This record gives sequence, structure tokens and C-alpha cells, in this order.
Amino acid sequence: MCGIIGAIRRDGGILNSLVEGLRVVEYRGYDSAGVAILEDGAIAVRKKQGRLENLEAVLEDGAFDNAPVGIGHTRWATHGEPNDRNAHPHQGATGRVAIVHNGIFENYLELREQLTAQGVKFASETDSEVMAQLLDLELQENISLQDAMRRALHRVEGYYALGAICQGPEGPELVCARKGPPLLVAFTPDAAYLASDVLGVLPHTDKVIYLEDGDVAILKPGSIEVTDFEGQPVEREISKVDWKPGDSGLGGWPHYMLKEIHEQPDVLARTALDRIDLERGDVTIEGGQFEDDFLQGVERVQVLACGTALHAGMIAKYLIEGLAKVPVDVDFASEYRYRDPIVVPGTMALAISQSGETADTLGATRLAKELGAKVAAIVNVAGSTQMREADQILLTHAGPEIGVASTKAFTAQVAAAVLLAVRMGRAKGTLPVEEAKAILTELNGLRTKIEHLLSEPIRDHIHDLAKIHARAKGFFFLGRGVNFPVALEGALKLKEISYMHAEGYAAGEMKHGPIALIDPGMTIVSINAPGHVADKVRSNIEQVKSRGGVALSVGSHEGSHKIAGQCIRVPETIEWLSPILNTIPLQLFSYYIADLRGCEIDKPRNLAKSVTVE
Ligand code: M6R
Repeated sequence: MCGIIGAIRRDGGILNSLVEGLRVVEYRGYDSAGVAILEDGAIAVRKKQGRLENLEAVLEDGAFDNAPVGIGHTRWATHGEPNDRNAHPHQGATGRVAIVHNGIFENYLELREQLTAQGVKFASETDSEVMAQLLDLELQENISLQDAMRRALHRVEGYYALGAICQGPEGPELVCARKGPPLLVAFTPDAAYLASDVLGVLPHTDKVIYLEDGDVAILKPGSIEVTDFEGQPVEREISKVDWKPGDSGLGGWPHYMLKEIHEQPDVLARTALDRIDLERGDVTIEGGQFEDDFLQGVERVQVLACGTALHAGMIAKYLIEGLAKVPVDVDFASEYRYRDPIVVPGTMALAISQSGETADTLGATRLAKELGAKVAAIVNVAGSTQMREADQILLTHAGPEIGVASTKAFTAQVAAAVLLAVRMGRAKGTLPVEEAKAILTELNGLRTKIEHLLSEPIRDHIHDLAKIHARAKGFFFLGRGVNFPVALEGALKLKEISYMHAEGYAAGEMKHGPIALIDPGMTIVSINAPGHVADKVRSNIEQVKSRGGVALSVGSHEGSHKIAGQCIRVPETIEWLSPILNTIPLQLFSYYIADLRGCEIDKPRNLAKSVTVE
């Protein structure tokens, strides 16, 4: 959840590249930010609670210009409140080493007790500081940082991406290690870098080495050596990253969320168009993925995901069951991994994840694999752990998603689910070619309908509706069938960024209890599409309206719009694809409400973009 950064350079200039690196990984956690710099053999630490701007305010102009090495951190607090003291980097008692850490040392209390008994005084309440203190003690034996790191790693239990610096016997040292949370390294002729994600190194190079669990990397200007925890060299491939440094900029938009919402026409095109084969009425996934011989062996699908990605997975259930006639279960990854799931022969576990680093999703898919499932993944970040561990991959091409509230990644996941369901239906022979052609033709043309939804008049209309509802007492989002998960997603988006109470419900469930909450202060957002449940949704709106609720109808079903009074008209499409279009006005509605309420849209309180702890 935290962002970590490290750099070692022949020509100094470290501070600037650390701060720039922190700026792009800050979306991973923003409770505090800090840097540790080694200059003239001594480490200086600057750290501040709150956003990166707070740290920048205490960085002296022109300081550390000749420093060859440094590390930086943006924090999402797990142990110890978010304050200056608990901010990273942490140092050991003698100040000879500094570390940054993402993850959790599960045995930190035990280690803290042992170290305290040895006379070590702790400066913070964090679990991370035990690593700084352990390294400090090891380094008193005049060993190298990499050796000290390996010894210390044998004493800790838990999960970590770690970076550490010290002045070694032969010069400045920068070492990192990984078990669990993501970490990658990269080098140029004059420098070497480490970061929690590719965005952190992209300004310097597009060639990266993804570290694996159990790796320790030693970074020097112009080279990187990777070993295991015992010091044995290991080979790691250099991968080329497709993203460009500019992809992660705001590009003139006030918020990443708004920018990312507006990228959806292009994202849909990148994710779907090249894979659609209209002549054959089929889909081709590059790299020989999801071919007939694999899919014909799939008898059951188990979707594993969290948050927004889970909602995309719920839509995938409707699609796969409807088009490929294969039973699909959808589980919260965090629940699946701690029960006794049954994996029957022919199970395909389908992980869905934007980051590909979500700890619960990784844990659940690893369990499914152990129990005999084949693992497939719909993932956005190429090179992510989820991608590397899957047997079959379908990459969404949403590009970097920086806004904590997922938008373009969701519609890309739904588009990918459509492709997969069609592919499965064709491979299994359950989807007639003409029906497949009709779905793919509509998907092919969806881009212009998304563009229409993002046009100024529609945006202004949604903005006006947001003004009406920004002070509502609470919200119910209702949907049925393939649009039920859209209701869940609409509610999640609103609560995430506006902190308003919002619940998503299967519309038919209202009368079984929640309808008791309806009164004139409640806004009921009802999501609809023409199709077999359209009239049912309309009567659900009538039920809430007759109890005094204020209804807002989103979709393309005129009957529902008429009953509701207020509406957002969405271009018509086939029911299977309606979630993609219906989601977009809900994203804008949440965005405008959050903006009107003065919320921090891209960095909502208590959240972080990539949830790499349980
Ligand atoms: O990276 P992932 O897709 O695995 O992330 C899963 C969730 O943490 C994520 O979708 C979260 O719910 C978003 N903040 C929702 O906007």
C-alpha cells in the first residue's frame, strides 16, 4: 500500500529524482512521506506527516546536491498512527542505516521485545523499525549491507518490499528485498533505481526487472545483481514496459479521476477492438491465450477479486453463464482464502485485478491453484505478480490508473469479460456465430456511445443533478440482472470519494427489508436497460416513489425514466453491454458530488490505490 523509491547515481542529483519518484507513487499511500539521503558518509532523514507537499516544504533548496544514494517512502499506515515519528524512512540506533518498508512484519512485537532487552531504544510505534534496528546491529560487525540484510531477513516473518541504504566499507550501498508486496529494479549506464511500481522508474528507463519473492537486489550505478536470501545469484529477465512516462501525468485535468473517466473511449478501443474478429464472429486473445483446447476443459469458473474488480467479476458471471453456459461462482478473495473452498476438476479460477498486486486476490488464486484449479487472470498491469502467476492472461489496456477510485479499469475489465465470455461460448459451441457477431459488432461500435456520454451537455446535466443530490441523506443504487453489479459499483464509487452513505442493492431485494429506510431524504438511483428485467426495474422504482423516495433513473429504458422523473439518458445498446455505458454517468455523478462537497477526489481518506496487505 505504501510507495517506495530508491536511487543510486554516479553524478548525484538524488533528491530531485526521489521526490519526482515519490510524486508518481504517492497514490499508493499518502499518510506521510519521507526521504533518507546519504551524503559524505552520513544519512540525513526528512519526513513529514501528510502529503508529499509537506515533505517538500521541509527540504532545503540545493541540499544534498552531491549525494549519491537515497530512498523514499509514501505511507499508508498499518502500525502506529500517521505522524512524523512513524513516517518512513526509519533508522537504527546508531543512524548508520535507513530503511523504507511496504508490508507487515508479523513477528515485530516479539523482535521488539528481544531488541529492547538488548538495550535498543525504539523511536516509533511501527513494525518496520525492527528491520532498521536489526540491520544496525548486524552492521556493527562490519559486514556489507547485503549480508546484514540477508541475516535480518532470516529473523523476520511477514511480508515486505524493503529498501535500505548505508555507507559501506567500500562506499554507499543500496539494497532491496522482496517477499509479497511488489518491487522492481532498473538500471541505466550511470544509475540504478528501485520502486514499488513501474511508474517510479519510467522517467529514467522503460526496461525493468520485476523482483520475485525471496530476492535480494544489490544496486550500483550501471548494474544490478539479484540473489536469493542465501546470497546465491539468480537470473531475472529484463522486461520492456509499454507505458510512457507522460501516461501518468494529469495533462491539464483537475483530477486523475476525471481524466481517467474521459480516457474510457480509448481504453475500450485498446482493450477490445484488435481482439474482435467480426468475420468469424469470435475473439482472439494474443499470445495463444484462452484457446479452444484450454476452454473446452473448463467446467466451472471461480471468480476471485476485491472491490471494483469484484463487481466486474459479478458481471462476468452473468456473461459467462449466459453465453458459455458454464456455472460461475464469485467470491470476495478475502473470504475465499480463509474458508475451505471446493475446487472440482475443470475449475478455472479467474482473478480480476487492476494492479495485479492485491494481496487478497493473489492469496485466493494461489489457494485455488494449490487445490487444482487452472488460474486465469484479467489484469491491467503487465508484469504484475498476478499476471506472472497466471496460466492464462487477458490484459486490459487501460494504462496507468492513478485515481484511487477505479473507473477506466472497471469498464476495461467488463469489456474483457465480454471478450472472454464470447470466446468461451464459441469454444464450447454454446454461442451461435450470428449471436456472437451481433455482440461483437455492438462492442466494436460502443466507443462513440461512450464519447456521447462524455460530451459537454450530458456532463452538464449530470453536474446539475449532482447539485440537487449532493446533500441527500443517503443513496440506494438499484439494479437487476447484469446491471445489479453496476448498482454496487455506483454505490461504492460514491461512498469512496464523497463519504456519503450509499448502498447498492438488487432491485428486487428492496421490498425484503431495505425499503423501510425510504423517506423523502433518500435518493434512489435506479439503473436500467431494455431487456428481460426492464419492466421489473420500473415497478421497483414505483415502489420506492410511492414511499416518498426521490428517484433518479439511469439507463436507456424510457418507461423507467418516465416513472422516476429525473433521469440520465444513456444510448441504447444490447443488454449484455449496458453495464459499460450505465457505469459512466454514475462515475461522473460521484465525481461531481465529491467535488461539490470539497472532497479530495484522487486521494480519499483512509484509502490507497493498491491493497498489498491483508
Ligand atoms: O488492483 P485491484 O483491482 O485488485 O484492486 C481491487 C480493489 O482494491 C479496488 O478495486 C478498490 O475497490 C478501488 N478503490 C475501487 O474504486
